[in-house]
Amino acid sequence: MKVLVTGGAGFIGTNFIRYWLKAHPDDEIINFDKLTYAGNAESLKDLAGNPKYKFIVGDIVNEDIIGSLVEQCELVVHFAAESHVDRSIINAEEFVRTNVLGTQIILQAVREHDRRLHHVSTDEVFGALPLGSKEKFNELTPYNPSSPYAASKAGSDHLVRAFYHTYKIDATISNCSNNFGPYQFPEKFIPLVITNILEGKKVPVYGDGLYVRDWLYVDDHCHAIDLIINQGKSGETYCIGGMTNDISNLEVVKKILKILGQGEDVIEMITDRPGHDRRYAIDWSKAQQELGYQPENDFDNYLEQTVKWYQNNQDWWQRVKSGEYQRYYEQQYGKVGN
Ligand code: NAD
Ligand code: TYD
Repeated sequence: MKVLVTGGAGFIGTNFIRYWLKAHPDDEIINFDKLTYAGNAESLKDLAGNPKYKFIVGDIVNEDIIGSLVEQCELVVHFAAESHVDRSIINAEEFVRTNVLGTQIILQAVREHDRRLHHVSTDEVFGALPLGSKEKFNELTPYNPSSPYAASKAGSDHLVRAFYHTYKIDATISNCSNNFGPYQFPEKFIPLVITNILEGKKVPVYGDGLYVRDWLYVDDHCHAIDLIINQGKSGETYCIGGMTNDISNLEVVKKILKILGQGEDVIEMITDRPGHDRRYAIDWSKAQQELGYQPENDFDNYLEQTVKWYQNNQDWWQRVKSGEYQRYYEQQYGKVGN
């Protein structure tokens, strides 16, 4: 099968491409990515020359290119998005353009060429849960996004559902919780904390630090997407989460400090994010019952693996933090992106 992966130079897309080529060695992948600040061509540089893998730089908002790529592939796995909440608070424009308009352009091509689509979305579309409650998000939770990022992803999910109902396209959606693992851009919480500690810098914790995320290891997420693609029912949504048990941001930082043998004096409590969602938690029983989804390990185990990865791959994240990574693609192939 030929698979079009959008946003494959980003964190989850990079891990997904590695996962898919291993799990489905006969398949071919086209990675289509704009290489925004979040796209890193270096993350997959070892795949250069692999006959099963092709990397094309471009924008999902470009109808002609998307039309031709979708036509060439049997399956589209759509990751491309603006993904950082803090950036969406500063300026929402790119979020609406890529996440809403870009998804609509992909849907149009999927409809026209009658292809299978899996759309990757987030639990942030559901809004926030109260701290201390046992409540969890599931596939029937009403949408109630708080940030411009979440609102733009909600818009993209609604479009996928509308195209399924109106045009009977073959599509599934997953709404997952916060991912972590190798190759994550260090503006996101866990890699930011690890790399700041490794650099001897302070660790910024928003507000009272008692915000709760349902941490999902990226490989478990990739496996869940594979299960949905191969066994999921068209038109359905699946919620995917990890095994965290309501751990606060402050506790996450303390665990990382313990793994690295560092004291807690580096923690710096800073001004809170506006509209900060208090708690996310996912009920993934539908995916478990219908697809056999189950995270392989618990949070502590994955956190240790992740810390080790950033310790062993300092060159990768130091080049991201210094901006050098953006010159890699330019040096190989010429100037692109923003
Ligand atoms: P990321 O920001 O690391 O990567 C996004 C990728 O998309 C980048 O490589 C970027 O260059 C590319 N891109 C952006 N705009 C584009 C455009 N117009 N055309 C083509 N490519 C474009 O994001 P991620 O963390 O890998 O997330 C991937 C997907 O998963 C997103 O849709 C996100 O909403 C969703 N998601 C992420 C998380 C998480 O914790 N990271 C959680 C839930 C859902
Ligand atoms: P983040 O990784 O930005 O993901 P999201 O906003 O999509 O959940 O943030 C995860 C949590 O960590 C969130 O509660 C905000 C918090 N946070 C900090 O406390 N300090 C930071 O510097 C960052 C980036 C996030």
